[in-house]
Amino acid sequence: MIEQIKNDIKKTLEAYYLKTYNKEIDIVVEEPKNASLGDISIPMFSVVKTLRKPMPDIIEEAMPIIKASSDVILSLSNVGAFINLIIDKKLLAKNVIKEVLIADTNYGSSDIGANQKVVLDYSSPNIAKSFSVGHLRSTMIGNSLNLILKKCGYDTFSINYLGDWGTQFGKMIVAYKKWGNLAKIKEDPINELTALYVRFHEEAKDDPTLDEEARKAFKKMENRDPEYLELWRWIREESLKESAQIYDLLGIKFDSYNGEAFYNDKMDQIVEELENKGLLKDDQGAKIVDLGEDMPPALIKRSDGGSLYITRDLAALFYRKNNYHFDRILYVVGNEQKLHFNQLKRLVTKMGYDFADQIEHVNFGLYLTNGKKMSTRQGGVVKLYDVLMKAISLAYDLITIKSPNLANKEEIAKAVGIAAIVFGDLKNSRWLDAEFDLEQSVKFEGQTGPYLQYTSVRIASILKDRTFDIAKCDIDVFEKPHYFDLVRQIASFKDTIEKAAMECAPSLIARYLLSLAQSFNKFYSLEKINALNENVRNSNFALAKAIRIVINEGLRLLGISYVDEM
Ligand code: ARG
Repeated sequence: MIEQIKNDIKKTLEAYYLKTYNKEIDIVVEEPKNASLGDISIPMFSVVKTLRKPMPDIIEEAMPIIKASSDVILSLSNVGAFINLIIDKKLLAKNVIKEVLIADTNYGSSDIGANQKVVLDYSSPNIAKSFSVGHLRSTMIGNSLNLILKKCGYDTFSINYLGDWGTQFGKMIVAYKKWGNLAKIKEDPINELTALYVRFHEEAKDDPTLDEEARKAFKKMENRDPEYLELWRWIREESLKESAQIYDLLGIKFDSYNGEAFYNDKMDQIVEELENKGLLKDDQGAKIVDLGEDMPPALIKRSDGGSLYITRDLAALFYRKNNYHFDRILYVVGNEQKLHFNQLKRLVTKMGYDFADQIEHVNFGLYLTNGKKMSTRQGGVVKLYDVLMKAISLAYDLITIKSPNLANKEEIAKAVGIAAIVFGDLKNSRWLDAEFDLEQSVKFEGQTGPYLQYTSVRIASILKDRTFDIAKCDIDVFEKPHYFDLVRQIASFKDTIEKAAMECAPSLIARYLLSLAQSFNKFYSLEKINALNENVRNSNFALAKAIRIVINEGLRLLGISYVDEM
């Protein structure tokens, strides 16, 4: 939080010299290693050198300018070429708290992203298959990044690039034609369609002609066969319902749901461009682009003329560049697609465009259960939606034990259950594999989402039906370490958010919130917040309220709701 003051001093002095002497001087403002010299120190060599005046004159002239640049400077002194300042920490603390209370949910906002457009591609399930763990991770990480970037002033556009095209739809259609029962599917679309898909894979093990049939069926789709397209449209609608359930639960919406199918009529143009630029090569009837020694070639067209994942991604990329004019595009996709995105970037460069470095693969690891890859597909029974519902029901049980008389238990349990899952993910560095432990994540203590909600609720109950006036607070208390530490943390909220935006790392906010909540709970154990002395009470309430604002806003940036009771 000293940072702000340092900046103010630098700006004020530089502006002063520019205005008075028409000189641009770079002013250095530092924090001396030796604290006995003060909190902030400003060497004046550069000024002396530029203005060619004696040091004492320079110092004398600068002192009042510096003093006026901030209202929290307690004293100034001079040693040699340095002007040293002592900051009024108590006043600074009060200012920080006041700033939070006034800004409220806007606290921590910044404009580092002003005039920059970011496209985010996340969630993107393959909708003929069931919603996988990887897609859930992508959904949660992408949603949080979207919120974080918006908070930093970026203009964002979120795309759910549905996997609604490709041979898996050929498989679905073949399976449906062979074994499907329309009435049954209408009754329970998600499960029936999944069952058909599973059956296809099982039968294809013994009967390789099925795969061939599926490829043909997909080819028919690509050639816009009306019957097949109609079937595809219907299967797509029905399968989307499963994803929609999950998005509803998480409270997530997208700016666009243009998936792979949307690009069916936009690929020819790209293939043509590759051809014209002499990049396309024949390879046993298929079309490929060589990408260099360090990378396998990109397969652009199958020998039967069918398109591929990367062909569609390439068409999508150019469509987005031309229509959304992004400065950055983020693909929130698992580690296993690293090569795919490296190929995509290389293709762009090979085609002669210069925006490959605007393309970022925001990669993430797997979920592990007991050290092994967690899969919802094993046996085809565990549905992700059911996992989310399980979290909610566990939360419901815990709430019932803790607060049996709570009025809107269902609603609170939903928020808490979701917090458990979302926070359980986002607290981890995304690129690493993460242990998935449902029971642990729902607990109200430890490094969990519910713990943060609980801390916020604790503050809400302290403040319930109370009024306070920060103008009448006792600022001396802010000097105590357990107060000052909290204020320091609150003051670094904005920096933390900006860093999370730069590194595409929601985990930075998650861990920041854990640390803040821990410090608050320590504070709570040391201090009687509802103090007897009115001024101390005002200080405590104001600080507590500011912390609740920060926790709630931090949770929002992760895609988690706060609650008022639990
Ligand atoms: N549907 C793909 C999959 O599940 C993920 C799509 C990611 N986004 C992209 N533009 N490739 O593997």
